[in-house]
This record gives sequence, C-alpha cells and structure tokens, in this order.
Amino acid sequence: MLSKDDQQALLAWYDEHQRDLPWRQSDDPWAILLSEILLQQTQVSRGLVYWQRMVETFPTIASMAQAPVDAVLKAWEGAGYYSRARRLHALSQQVMLPKAEGGFDGQLPSTYGDLLSLPGIGPYTAAAVASIAFGQSVACVDGNIRRVMARRTAQADPTSKQVQAWADAALHPARPGDWNQALMELGATVCTPKRWNCGGCPVRASCAGKENPGAFPTPKKQRVTSLNLVAVVEFALDGHPVLHQRPMTGIFAGLWGPVYHEDAPTGLEDLVNCGTVNHQLSHRKIEVRVHLKHHDLATHGTPRSGVAISSLDEKVLNLASEYATANPHIQKSEAKG
Ligand code: ADE
Repeated sequence: MLSKDDQQALLAWYDEHQRDLPWRQSDDPWAILLSEILLQQTQVSRGLVYWQRMVETFPTIASMAQAPVDAVLKAWEGAGYYSRARRLHALSQQVMLPKAEGGFDGQLPSTYGDLLSLPGIGPYTAAAVASIAFGQSVACVDGNIRRVMARRTAQADPTSKQVQAWADAALHPARPGDWNQALMELGATVCTPKRWNCGGCPVRASCAGKENPGAFPTPKKQRVTSLNLVAVVEFALDGHPVLHQRPMTGIFAGLWGPVYHEDAPTGLEDLVNCGTVNHQLSHRKIEVRVHLKHHDLATHGTPRSGVAISSLDEKVLNLASEYATANPHIQKSEAKG
C-alpha cells in the first residue's frame, strides 16, 4: 500500500519530472490508444517516431478502417511485432461497425470491459486507455509497475493477482490516468531494473526493498531460441528486389521479403554467398545466411517503398545490394545467359 502522503508525493513528482511525451499533450483517445499499443513492446525513445508516423497517417479510427491492412503494416514498418498492426486494423474496423453488429458506431468505447472486447487489447491496454483517455478508475499493471510493487513490498516473485491487488489498492481515484502513468514513469526512470536511483525516488522512505533493490523481483530467466535461415535474394533486371508477401500467420506475417529457407535448399552452391545477418528479437536470435541469385533473373522486382518490410529484411536486402554493387561482374556476366 501507499499512504495518502506517498500518493501525493508521487503525483507531485510526476507533475514535475514526467518526460515530455507528445501523447501526454493529447486528449484524443485514438492517439492515446496508439501510444499504448506501441509502448507495449517498443521503448519510449523508439516509440516516438512510430507514434508520430501512425497519427499522421491515420489521424482517426475511420481513416484506418478504410485503409487496407497493407497500408497499416507499411506505416508500422520497423516497429516490430507486426501482429499489433494487424490487430489495430481489425480493431478500427470493429469500432466503425454499428452497435447492432457488435461495433461502437465509430467511437472508441470508454469502459475497461468494452475496450477489452476489442482485438489487440489486453488487460493492460484496456486499463491504460480507460484511465488515461477517459478518466476511469482502473489500475493498470505492466512490467514497470510489477517491479515497483515487488520492491516496495520486498517480494521476490509476486503473482499477477498480487500485483493487480496492490495496484487496485494504490490507485488514486481522482487522477487515475496520471496515477497509472506516475507509477510507470517511476519504474521507467527511477526504479529501473539495473541502475535504480533510490536517491531520486519520492517515496523512498516507505520502501521495504530499498536496502537491496536488486533482489526484487528476481529476474525471470529468458529462454532465447535461435533460428538459422537461408535467404535467397534476387535483384530483377529492373534493379528492384523480387519480394514475396509472407503468410498471414507466423514470423513477420503479412510483411514482404525475399525467400527464406529453414534448411539449405538444393542448388545453394550455385548461388553467391554474400555473408550473414544477425538479428535479435526479444526471445529469438535469428541468423540469416544471405545468398544472391544471379541467373534466370526476373524482369520486374518490387519497389521497396511500396510494401512493408521488416528491419531484418532491410538488413538482408542491404547486404545483398551492397554485395551486388561491389561485385557487378556477378550479376552482369551470369544474368544475361
Ligand atoms: N509505458 C506504457 N505506457 C506508458 C505511459 N503512458 N507512461 C509511461 N510509461 C508507459
């Protein structure tokens, strides 16, 4: 629990020290929803760029609902976790439906329960949007708040239920949106995982974990899997890469890229090996061996600017393109045959 004095101290600290983030200046629920969906898995510093791009491209729910999902993926390009963009598109279309058809007549709903019923909205996002955009008294829980709770109560491994109960009890009912953000802000900037700054904490005096913050919570062991892929990149005679849209399920679903193989395909030895690209996702290490196809070339490729491409595929295409530019004889001598 936090005492009334602690609550006041934390809110006063937030009022003075909060980061200047553009969505905090907005009272548009759609702009706030976009920020919360982005910040689920993207750091604030990177999220800024993508948020700007999303609100400019899709200033209203209706504008997204009318756009093809490919346009949403294109605007999301580089932000990662592309299922968020596909679900956001589905959400916009559902909100635009009439009430009789399970929609919300074009208005983002304001309650936790209605928000939770929409695609891509889990308990965290429903509570964050309900409180920040609509002033509803609901407490949200994310990784930052879990850490703040674990430290304040000196618990090594609190359950989700315990964290939610703590957050519910701590909620400041008059300023729920600011309160939720103040707790997250404390976790993101002061009560951080490794370089915590107890000296800068407004509620340090009542913290049970302050003597040994590193012990709370115990770090979760992350299981990182590795994936080895072989990419076959082809630059068509018009200079553009030949790209394919990936299936709507699985890794990089719906995005465009060169052909990938999990096992070396037959005929690989006839292709030119350009090198290797390493890419880190949150739970996955991907190594891609990049090969250049230089015979039987297609006439037309796909301009990169027209389709959504993952950051990994950007790296793969750049490596292949640099190699092809540095070794023009490969393409020229073999391509024409
Ligand atoms: N992380 C996700 N949403 C946030 C917000 N609104 N304020 C601070 N950190 C956040």
